[in-house]
Amino acid sequence: MNSYDDIMKNIEACDDKIIEVLNERLAYTEEITKYKAEHHMPILRHEEEVRQLKNLAGKYSNHPYKEEFEEIFRSISVSSRKIQAEVLFPKNIVLIGFMGAGKSSLASYLSENFYMRTVETDREIVQREGISIPEIFELYGEEYFREKETEVIRELGTGSRKVISVGGGAVMRDENVKHMKASGVIVLLTATPKAILDRVKGSTERPLLNGKMNEDYIATLMKKRSARYEEVADLTIDTTDKTIPDVCEAVISKITASGSQTTKTVLS
Ligand code: S3P
Repeated sequence: MNSYDDIMKNIEACDDKIIEVLNERLAYTEEITKYKAEHHMPILRHEEEVRQLKNLAGKYSNHPYKEEFEEIFRSISVSSRKIQAEVLFPKNIVLIGFMGAGKSSLASYLSENFYMRTVETDREIVQREGISIPEIFELYGEEYFREKETEVIRELGTGSRKVISVGGGAVMRDENVKHMKASGVIVLLTATPKAILDRVKGSTERPLLNGKMNEDYIATLMKKRSARYEEVADLTIDTTDKTIPDVCEAVISKITASGSQTTKTVLS
């Protein structure tokens, strides 16, 4: 039988091999992400992924440590998604746009698919105040809400792997814009007043639209803000008639076209 020291040495040698293979594996993740982006291929190919996972699971389905294999590969898959996010979005993404433009939906889609952290200014304000947005407007007025909004935006910070969705009116304050610009790339989501109305008409969570839930009012408010949205945005995506996965791919392709991808490639 091997001595204790020999066994430990063998384990260490295995760990070295794992590091080497992981190194290679993660570098390929970077490479394929860049390749897909540069060749305008869809980044998220769910069917392909399911096929690969099935194929992989077949290779260890009879193994006594099947569950451990599953856990390890699950963790590799999470890490791969995080690497994809770093390659595609080297900076935080700040989503701006009119109410109902799809900011929150895109934020949760990005978060689910790339394990990005989400910050939603409205949700943060509700948590801090302990009451809903309509209640804040009703009890303390819009100005108070705007102050709270600025407080949250001041704390956004820099970095990557964060998707930040700010309330539709936040861009109107210069101070907010300054912090948003410092935090990441600003992506404007737009939609026609009709599309917006279709998306928000069932909600009572937007005090600015309560009692004015119609296309004309939406178009008027939108007109007042459009120039500001465009001035602040680094890139713009029209979400009318698009699904959230389509919007996500459009964001990826615009960010890629602007040439800001990064890699930390470790392969020599
Ligand atoms: C507002 C938009 C809302 C919310 C508040 C005010 C606005 O956020 O911040 O009701 O001024 O456009 P959403 O854009 O997420 O709906």
